[in-house]
Amino acid sequence: MEISIGIIGLGSMAKAIVSPLLERGEYHPQNVLGIVGSSSSIAPASNDLPKELKVVSSEDSLSKEVWKAPLKILAVKPQQFKKITESFSSLQLKDHFPKPLLISVLAGITLKSLKKAFPGHTCVRAVPNTPSLVGQGLTGLAWEDDITLDQKKVVRKIFEPISEIYELEEQKLDSFLALTSSGPAYIALVVEAMADGAVAAGLPRNLSNQLAHKTVSGTASLLREKSLHPAELKDMVASPAGTTISALRHLELAGLRSALIEAVVLAAQKSRQLAEEVSS
Ligand SMILES: NC(=O)c1ccc[n+]([C@@H]2O[C@H](COP(=O)([O-])OP(=O)(O)OC[C@H]3O[C@@H](n4cnc5c(N)ncnc54)[C@H](OP(=O)(O)O)[C@@H]3O)[C@@H](O)[C@H]2O)c1
Repeated sequence: MEISIGIIGLGSMAKAIVSPLLERGEYHPQNVLGIVGSSSSIAPASNDLPKELKVVSSEDSLSKEVWKAPLKILAVKPQQFKKITESFSSLQLKDHFPKPLLISVLAGITLKSLKKAFPGHTCVRAVPNTPSLVGQGLTGLAWEDDITLDQKKVVRKIFEPISEIYELEEQKLDSFLALTSSGPAYIALVVEAMADGAVAAGLPRNLSNQLAHKTVSGTASLLREKSLHPAELKDMVASPAGTTISALRHLELAGLRSALIEAVVLAAQKSRQLAEEVSS
C-alpha cells in the first residue's frame, strides 16, 4: 500500500481536514491510512469517508505503516501525545529527502516538542477551530524554520478548504487559540444564556434557541458585510431611554465585557502553561 497521507488520530478534526481533500481529488482514498485508538472506533471513523480509505487501530501491525507517509497529520488528543511519541521512537526508520511533513493540530504542543519527538520530520503547528467542521473555520499556522516553500504550499492547500489561514509566529498561537479555538465555546454560552433569558421572559424553548442563534449569526454577518465596528452597531441599536440601553447598563454592571476579556487572557495563559508541562 502506497500511503500519501497518514492520519494519526482519525477523529472529528482530522475528518474535517481530510474530507474536502478527498472530495476535491487532491488525494486518493486508497493512499490514505487513518489510525484510531481502539478497534471499536474504526466503524465510526470510517463513516462518511470513502470505503477505499483504510482505517486501523493503533494495536494493528499495519498502523506502523503510517510513519512511512511523506505527509502526516497528527490529530490525537494532547493527552495521547506521549504514547504516540513512544511508539514512534521504537521504530527504525530511514532518513528521507525531502523530509516528510508532520502537521500537528494538538493544542499546546510546541514545534520544539514536535521536532524532539519526531526527528527527521519537518514540523508544522496548526490551530484550527470548530467552525472548520462546516468549512467556516480559522486556522493559525506556525512553521519550523527549515520548511520549504513547496511544503508551505502543501499545508496551505490542506487548510484552505475549511478555513481562513493566518500565518503567525509560534508564540502568538496561544493568544490566537484563546480567541478562535476557545471562542466558539464562549459564544455558545452566550447563545444559550440569551435563549434562557427569552424563556424566562415567556417565549417557548425551541423558538428561543432558534432566535438566539439566528440573532448571533445575523449580527456577525451584519458586522462583516457592512464592515461595522462593534461599537457602531451597538449605538445603532441602543435608542435613547430605550430597551437595549437598559439591558446594556445591566451587562456593564454585571461585568460581561471584562469577563470576556479575562476569559481570553486566561485561556492564553493556560495554553502556555500546558505547553510548558509537556516540554518539561
Ligand atoms: N475538534 C476541534 O474543534 C479542534 C479544534 C482545534 C484543535 N483540535 C485538536 O485536534 C485534536 C483532535 O481533536 P478531536 O476533537 O478531533 O478529537 P477526537 O475526535 O477524540 O479524535 C482523536 C482521535 O485520536 C484517536 N486516537 C487515540 N489514541 C490513539 C493512538 N494511540 N494512536 C492513534 N490514534 C489514536 C482516537 O481514537 P479513539 O476514539 O479510538 O480513542 C480518535 O480517533 C486535539 O488535539 C485537539 O486539541 C480540535
